[in-house]
Amino acid sequence: MTLLVRVNLYFVAFFNLISSYRSNHVLDSCGHAVLITGCDSGFGHRLARCLDQKGFVVFAGCLSPEGAGAQSLVRQSSSNLKILKLDVTRDEDLQQAKKMVQENLPEKGLWAVVNNAGISDWAEIEWSTIEDFQHMVDVNLFGSIRTSITFLPLVRASKGRMVFVSSIFSFFYCLNMGAYSVSKRGLEAFADCLRVEMASFGVKVSIIQPGNFGQATNILKRKTALDIWNKLDDEKKRIFGREYIDLANDYFTSTCRVGFKDADPVIAAMLHAVTSARPKHRYLLVSTMEMFFFSIFPYLPTLLADAFTDFWGCC
Ligand SMILES: NC(=O)c1ccc[n+]([C@@H]2O[C@H](COP(=O)([O-])OP(=O)(O)OC[C@H]3O[C@@H](n4cnc5c(N)ncnc54)[C@H](OP(=O)(O)O)[C@@H]3O)[C@@H](O)[C@H]2O)c1
Repeated sequence: MTLLVRVNLYFVAFFNLISSYRSNHVLDSCGHAVLITGCDSGFGHRLARCLDQKGFVVFAGCLSPEGAGAQSLVRQSSSNLKILKLDVTRDEDLQQAKKMVQENLPEKGLWAVVNNAGISDWAEIEWSTIEDFQHMVDVNLFGSIRTSITFLPLVRASKGRMVFVSSIFSFFYCLNMGAYSVSKRGLEAFADCLRVEMASFGVKVSIIQPGNFGQATNILKRKTALDIWNKLDDEKKRIFGREYIDLANDYFTSTCRVGFKDADPVIAAMLHAVTSARPKHRYLLVSTMEMFFFSIFPYLPTLLADAFTDFWGCC
């Protein structure tokens, strides 16, 4: 690419940025469609209902279209909400979903894609297998990449929105969250690169970073100390010992008891990212107490950040 073309691209991106700050309207939902992944439960399920009530055509991707979550979505929504069978790890599902979306697009096209589908698990790195990491990354990272690549041409045509549901674990690392952190840090790298590339096309990219909303959704994987113990080989059993595993399990169980019981702040952020004229690049959704700490955490020297992480793990 010549220097002139590159300078021109930056100029267009800068111009788009300025004009986006001038316009201040909230999007009129009428005739616009939104695709959301992972609508069987949790944030995706709530957002799908909310956007349906606001008059959007909603394509609700569900892992199990015949399951209780998808069926309750059908019962509680208008005929403008359509359930898609969408396992984000399966290319065939994505191609099928794209066909269905194209055949049912309203006049103003596909406005937004919300990459929400995700899984979580906890374990120290040495208790995990490569398959544990691969599965986590396949859903949380490659699932969003597959979905984005599939639907980006439609979103670009409407100069719309790409939204990515990440986590505070994309930048805050703590005990037992290695595989999840890897997947969410990768997701943010992808979203940041996409934001820069899409600026000249008028597509805005937002990242949602929820803190602990484990009690408000189905994300928490219930497993016992015995489940972990049974997975370890004899050498690891000898190195870690049962007491260490029990302590880790107690720590995880105690973190599950705290946190938000209501998903409202996350849904409000997702709505803002989809409908506001000036969506934020990042929405950090933590308690007021935690806000200061999490805002500075990425900028702390590693030594200090590690000390905080150790302290956090001991609390
Ligand atoms: N809740 C929190 O504290 C929290 C914090 C930070 C970030 N997040 C993120 O928020 C997003 C939504 O999670 P949530 O908390 O709402 O949990 P959730 O209730 O478990 O929702 C996740 C959804 O993704 C679906 N899903 C799982 N694997 C999938 C696949 N391969 N393809 C398509 N869909 C799949 C799940 O289907 P099934 O119900 O059938 O499994 C479920 O509908 C995730 O990306 C998660 O990492 C959550």
